[in-house]
Amino acid sequence: MTIGIDQIGLYTPNWYIDLRELARARGDEPDKYTIGIGQDQQAVAPSSQDIVTMAAAAARELTIDTTKLGLIVVGTESGIDASKASALYVQRLLGLHPWVRALEIKEACYGGTAGLMMARDYVATHPGQQALVIASDIARYGLATGGEVTQGAGAVAMLVTEAPRVLALADDSVYYAEEIMDFWRPVYQDTALARGKYSTEQYLAFFKRVWAQYQRQSGRTVADFDALCFHLPYTKMGLKALRLALPAASAVQQAELTARFERSIQYSRRIGNIYTGSLYLGLLSLLELDDTLTPGARIGLFSYGSGAVGEFFSGTLVEGFTAHLHRADHAALLDARTRLSIPDYETLFRDKVPYGPADYSSDPAFFAGPFVLTGVSGQERQYRTN
Ligand code: HMG
Repeated sequence: MTIGIDQIGLYTPNWYIDLRELARARGDEPDKYTIGIGQDQQAVAPSSQDIVTMAAAAARELTIDTTKLGLIVVGTESGIDASKASALYVQRLLGLHPWVRALEIKEACYGGTAGLMMARDYVATHPGQQALVIASDIARYGLATGGEVTQGAGAVAMLVTEAPRVLALADDSVYYAEEIMDFWRPVYQDTALARGKYSTEQYLAFFKRVWAQYQRQSGRTVADFDALCFHLPYTKMGLKALRLALPAASAVQQAELTARFERSIQYSRRIGNIYTGSLYLGLLSLLELDDTLTPGARIGLFSYGSGAVGEFFSGTLVEGFTAHLHRADHAALLDARTRLSIPDYETLFRDKVPYGPADYSSDPAFFAGPFVLTGVSGQERQYRTN
C-alpha cells in the first residue's frame, strides 16, 4: 500500500516586517540578517491569531472527505493549553465529524514529523481511512533578543492517505533522540529560551548522525536524491546542513541540489521559522516554485526538534502532483500581506493574550484571516469564523 501526502495547505498571518529594517532598528548590518541568517521578511501574528486559528486556516485549503477522516493531529510547540488539544478546536471550527481521534503532539519542531509518521502508521493499519496532520506555531524569542531575527508564524496542513496524489512516503525513516538543553520554553512564558550557537551545532551534529545512519541502513547515497529539504529555523541553517551532504555528490548533482534547495527556502525567507511546520514549508516551497522535478523524483527530508530529536526520511513525487498544489493562492497569500513598521511590530508583539486568568480582548483592527481569536472570557478562548 502506498501512503503519503495527498494535499498540503498553508496559512500565515496578514502582517510582516522587513528584516533589513529590523536590522537597522537593532543596530545590526542588514546583510547579517539577509545573507548571514538568510531571512528577508518575518511573519507577525497579532494576538487574534494563535495556533488554532492558523491551523484551521491551513486545513481549510484541503478538500477533506470527512467520513473517511479517523485522526486529527496538531504538532505544535506554542500550544495554548497545557491539557486540551488544539485539534479539538480545529475540529469544531472546520465542522469535521466527531468519529475521530483528535490530539496534539509536542516535541519542539519535531512535532510535525511525529504527527506525519503517526498519520502514516494510522493509515497503514486502517485501510481506507485518512489522517489530517497540522503543524502550527508562532516562534517568539522576544524583542531585541538574539533569536528575534529567527521568529515567524504560520501553519502547514497535510492530508495523509492511501494512494496519495503529491508525495508517496518511503518506509525508510532513521531517527535519533538525546536529551540536551539547546532550546526550550518553560510553561510560564510565551518566549523560547535558546543557547543559540550550541543549538546550531547540535542541529548539524544530529543531521550528520542520522544521514550517515540512513545511508548505512537504506543503502542509498546522495546520488539517489533529486532534492533535499531541511528543517529551516532560518534558511542559512539548512544551507549549512546541505553543505555537509554535497561533497559526496558529482559536480552536476551539486548544482542541481543547490538550485532546488534555493527554491525550497523561498517561503521561509518571507515567513520565518514556523517551528513544527518549517520542514513542510520548505517542501511546499520546493514543489510550488520548482518546475524541474518530475514524478518519481526522490526528495530527502531532515527534521530536527530541539531537546532533541532528528529524523531523516524520503518520499517520491507522484504522477500529476502539480495539479494538487495551490501555488497561485500561496503567492497571493504572501503578496497581500501588510508590512508593519518596526515600532508598530513592537506594539503588536507586546499586546498578547496574558499568561494569567484575566479576561482579554484582541484588537479588532487586526481581525483578518478565515478564523480569529476575539479574546478570552472566563479563561476560555473565544474563536470566530470570519
Ligand atoms: P547571532 O549571534 O546573532 O549571529 O545568532 P552570528 O553572529 O552567529 O551571525 C550569524 C551569521 O551571520 C554568521 O554566519 C555571520 O558570519 C554572519 P555563519 O558563520 O553562521 O555562516 N554575518 C554576516 N553575514 C553577512 N554580512 C554581515 C554579517 N554579519 C554577520 N554583515 C542565531 C544567530 C541563529 C544563533 C540566533 O539568531 C538564535 O539564537 N536563534 C534561535 C535559535 C535557532 O534558531 N537555532 C537553530 C538551530 S536549533 C533548531 O533548529 C530548533 C528550533 O527551530 C526550535 C525547535 O526545534 O524547538 C530553533
